[in-house]
Amino acid sequence: MNGPLTLALPKGRLFDQVLEHFSRRGLCLPPPGRELILTDAQGKLKIFIVKNSDLPVYVTHAIAGLGICGSDVLYESRGVFFELFELPFGATRMCLAAREDYEQEGAIQRLKVATKFPVFTRNFFNTRGIPVEIIRLHGSVELAPVLGLAPYIVDLVETGSTLKANGLRVVEYLENITIKFIANPAYYKIHSAQIDAFVDFLKEPS
Ligand code: PRP
Repeated sequence: MNGPLTLALPKGRLFDQVLEHFSRRGLCLPPPGRELILTDAQGKLKIFIVKNSDLPVYVTHAIAGLGICGSDVLYESRGVFFELFELPFGATRMCLAAREDYEQEGAIQRLKVATKFPVFTRNFFNTRGIPVEIIRLHGSVELAPVLGLAPYIVDLVETGSTLKANGLRVVEYLENITIKFIANPAYYKIHSAQIDAFVDFLKEPS
């Protein structure tokens, strides 16, 4: 008999969306308190609740065989994963943003950018041949242009309300970010039948 599949989920707003997706298909989990490990009532799934940016680490080491996270997180990771499918919620956009009143003088020679996404940012602008100086932050990135740390940020924009509330505007939309269901390749090989059945279940219309 197969044991439960192991799945890492990120804390935060995506977590709630995933649990809602599960529960609409009849997969119910105990309401999360402070526990970081949850098991479904039928014992088919064991969930580890991890910090968003740590999720690829758990899947790389096959502690969790599976994971659900944004493509933004995968860009920053050096892991190799199977991307099994894209979930139909949680899409956002990676944007270059600046203060509403900021005006670049002349052509951009070197972009100074504060971001939580240094790998994405470096690759994106280097591919365009634009040198970039990156200031790495871990949150509240919108403060950087307001306080003068950097004129630009690269960050996720969903509703746009955080930018607006801080007097910032989108300079350019850089990339669509979607939510991926990923697997550790070796784990997938061993559990492919069980995983494929779970993926089909998750793809079912609710
Ligand atoms: C994300 C992102 C933006 C905000 C965008 O931050 O980095 O700050 O959400 O959402 P909006 O367009 O709907 O306003 P998060 O909430 O993860 O917090 P953090 O800044 O502490 O990383």
